[in-house]
Amino acid sequence: MDGNKLYIKGPQRMHGELLVQGSKNAALPILAATILGKGIFIIHHCPRISDVKHMLELLEDAGCRIHWEGHMLIVDTRELCNYRVSCSGAGKMRSTVTLLGSILGRMHQVEIPYPGGCTIGKRPIDLHLRGLEQLGAVFEHQEHTLYGKVKMLHGAQVYLDFPSVGATENVLLAAVLADGTTVLHGAALEPEIVELASFLRKMGADIKGDGTPVITVKGVPKLHAAEYIIPSDRIVAGTYLFGAVMGCGEVRLLHVPVTHLGKLPELLEQLGAVVEAEDDWIYVRMERQCRPVPYMVTAPFPGFPTDLQSALVAALSTASGMSFIEEKIFEARFQIVEELRKMGASVVSEDSFALIDGNAKLQGAHVEAKELRGGAALIMAALAAEGETCISGMEYVCRGYEDINSDLKKLGIMI
Ligand code: EPZ
Repeated sequence: MDGNKLYIKGPQRMHGELLVQGSKNAALPILAATILGKGIFIIHHCPRISDVKHMLELLEDAGCRIHWEGHMLIVDTRELCNYRVSCSGAGKMRSTVTLLGSILGRMHQVEIPYPGGCTIGKRPIDLHLRGLEQLGAVFEHQEHTLYGKVKMLHGAQVYLDFPSVGATENVLLAAVLADGTTVLHGAALEPEIVELASFLRKMGADIKGDGTPVITVKGVPKLHAAEYIIPSDRIVAGTYLFGAVMGCGEVRLLHVPVTHLGKLPELLEQLGAVVEAEDDWIYVRMERQCRPVPYMVTAPFPGFPTDLQSALVAALSTASGMSFIEEKIFEARFQIVEELRKMGASVVSEDSFALIDGNAKLQGAHVEAKELRGGAALIMAALAAEGETCISGMEYVCRGYEDINSDLKKLGIMI
């Protein structure tokens, strides 16, 4: 890889075993939750990715002290003193949203730069703010910043119109120290919600119902430090499994909580792969051309995850027939389509639909990662392409994949 470019000469078959990195989307809200307790936290198996780096910079801005030992992260929140989160760079922007609930819970006021959207969509935070307002917070929208304050957060019946992952996390983070009981209706069911709730319980919180649409939080006067192991990243695991399918490979991924994969094993079998999975490992072997998928729609957990939609589109471009994908979570998440067409795929997208003709013989080409998951999917597509593919924009991929070079080498891929 030179600078932000990766070169892969295909076709290549993945083969080997890999211990999957820690989960970005579990780590970020857990790091935000450390603000709610005074003490020294030990977080194991934490992914060293740029989104985590940005979150840690924000925690340091707030007065926390951070120390890495390999993948073990030590967070000391005893000196936490600052409710103003100032940051530059869009990358940190998304992380600031996750801090809303925890800084409000600890400091009773919060100021963050107004989070912009990103390439996959506007990313509004109306559900976050409405949930926090139901707990007593009042927000002022200033020119470039969002300021929130509350005398004392109080328990409430909170209703989410959509099971937003981030809004569910922010309401939980604000409710654990609130005065009274909060019942969150319409909560997200993603595994990352259960991980956050488990972490908060280790800190002394009283939470029940996480993983179901109704979560009950009984506020407690204070929370203490805790030690936790971040689970492996289900989206990183899923990305590599699609890579194995595309390149007709054979992989075994270790340390992956299979329950976090939802219906993915079933879908991989539908594509024609041999799949074996138990507790914390999954084995996939592909010996044939992908089967097409007549229709697939992205949905909140346990539906097919939007974060793997690009990898599925890439795999289906080599399938033996027509497939149809509907993206129902984000409004602009088919940016991989024009890049796959440069590789010879016959795929078109319009609004929230993509139509994939299949039977493409992908050719190596210069393609560009425009966002995190689309970029990772292009790397998987390169495994199935004839000739060299250059993927630029690797800085997007590094937001969520800790060391994709080393992971792919362990899976037998020459880069
Ligand atoms: C989380 O984003 C993940 N990020 C995303 O992963 C993931 O794609 C998404 O959940 C869905 O699973 C993290 O966990 C850090 P949402 P989040 O709130 O919380 C709309 C990746 O690649 N919405 O469930 O932002 C929103 O615009 C990233 O790792 C509102 O309208 O997702 C979107 O269309 C990408 N108002 C939909 O809901 C709100 O207040 C789902 O968003 C909040 C969300």
